[in-house]
Amino acid sequence: MARNEAEIGTKKSTFMKWIDDRFPYTETMKYHITEYYASKNFNFWYIFGVLAMVVLVIQFVSGIFLTMNYKPSSADAFASVEYIMRDVQWGWLIRYMHSTGASFFFVVVYLHMFRAMLYGSYQKPRELIWIIGMMIFFVLFAEAFAGYLLPWGQMSYWGAQVIISLFGAIPGIGEAIVEIIRGDYSISDITLNRFFALHVVVLPIALLGLVFVHIVALHHVGSNNPDGIEIKDHKGPDGVPLDGIAFHPYHTTKDLVGIIIFLMIFSAVMFFAPDMGGYFLEHANFEPANVMATPERIAPVWYFTPFYAILRAVPSKLWGAALMALSVLAPLFLPWLDRSRVKSIRYRGPIYKTALGLFVISFCTLGWLGMQPAEGVYVVMARIFSVIYFGFFIAMPYYTTIDKTKQVPDRVVYHG
Ligand code: HEM
Repeated sequence: MARNEAEIGTKKSTFMKWIDDRFPYTETMKYHITEYYASKNFNFWYIFGVLAMVVLVIQFVSGIFLTMNYKPSSADAFASVEYIMRDVQWGWLIRYMHSTGASFFFVVVYLHMFRAMLYGSYQKPRELIWIIGMMIFFVLFAEAFAGYLLPWGQMSYWGAQVIISLFGAIPGIGEAIVEIIRGDYSISDITLNRFFALHVVVLPIALLGLVFVHIVALHHVGSNNPDGIEIKDHKGPDGVPLDGIAFHPYHTTKDLVGIIIFLMIFSAVMFFAPDMGGYFLEHANFEPANVMATPERIAPVWYFTPFYAILRAVPSKLWGAALMALSVLAPLFLPWLDRSRVKSIRYRGPIYKTALGLFVISFCTLGWLGMQPAEGVYVVMARIFSVIYFGFFIAMPYYTTIDKTKQVPDRVVYHG
């Protein structure tokens, strides 16, 4: 017998009441979604957090299907990837989704981090969001590195060989660490097995856990915005920030447009240029790993190259490795290096704007240099840009103190 709407409504709310008595469903939804108030002036730069989540899902889903057909052994790994590409139904799509996703993850995360630098989102009270973000970044590095060994191609093997051997530069304990990572005296089947375990179990769990606490911390303090103004300081009589709008339905609707455009770009790359001319999938990796033959030039994938350029800019292996590690760690200290009284680039002075511009140029140029041979003018350039890269961080406490800032308005600026 058909029931009328009121009856169904009553039934649903009784059901929801039952749930809510046992699990804080409605309360959680309100706190994190329908009554989470974020500034109304979010712009383009605010889409990348959501996109990072989209890519995370793409990587998890495609990764699960890859794992169903991949064989983590040095004898079978390369052939099993070829089998996925040629014989498994839709296997080529799943693999290209995952390899394109890896590069897009870094594009999105680098832009997401840059947004925080534009608007001072790492400053008080969001230091922990930033620190957790940096931990995500480190785990993402490890995840990408472990994943790259799995196809057991030439670059998988020799890339891992170069990077793992860097730990050998640590005085005293270096060689022991290298053996622990490899699990053998050289990169072997054992190394492949442990990297597989890290790539499909340990690191994804760590990533999920970190993303969860990243969002919990964000929702506890509230999102920053392109003006760098705390919207919680100006609340209406109902306790809602005057410049805030509910995350759902307002931000979710806008985000959906961004997600669709992103997926169109993602699909275009995945279908028409999955190897991106050797940047996303390196040419040497289409050959099986050969312990007896080193590839002509060993270069990591593009997202590692700025740091790789710093490594090669230094003649000593130990100092090169130390500076490379420091270059990855440096952004972690931004909340304490930045002494500016304002957050957003909109109200900063010319010195910070110039410094940030130079930082971006140095990061991109180092990225390009990391793909060039380590000789002649390339090494000189890598040294110059490494100095600029580190200079941005080292001189920051000074130039952010003396920089002339503009008056920050009380309320966010919004042009509808
Ligand atoms: C898997 C990777 C990541 C995911 C899924 C993720 C997700 C998000 C989301 C959904 C937001 C809120 C929306 C937004 O403000 O864009 C956010 C904010 C933020 N994230 Fe991430 N994030 C990731 C990595 C990182 C990294 C690597 C950093 C920095 C090292 C970082 C730093 C921040 C900061 C500072 C905010 C607050 C921004 C603001 O309020 O202005 N995140 N993140």
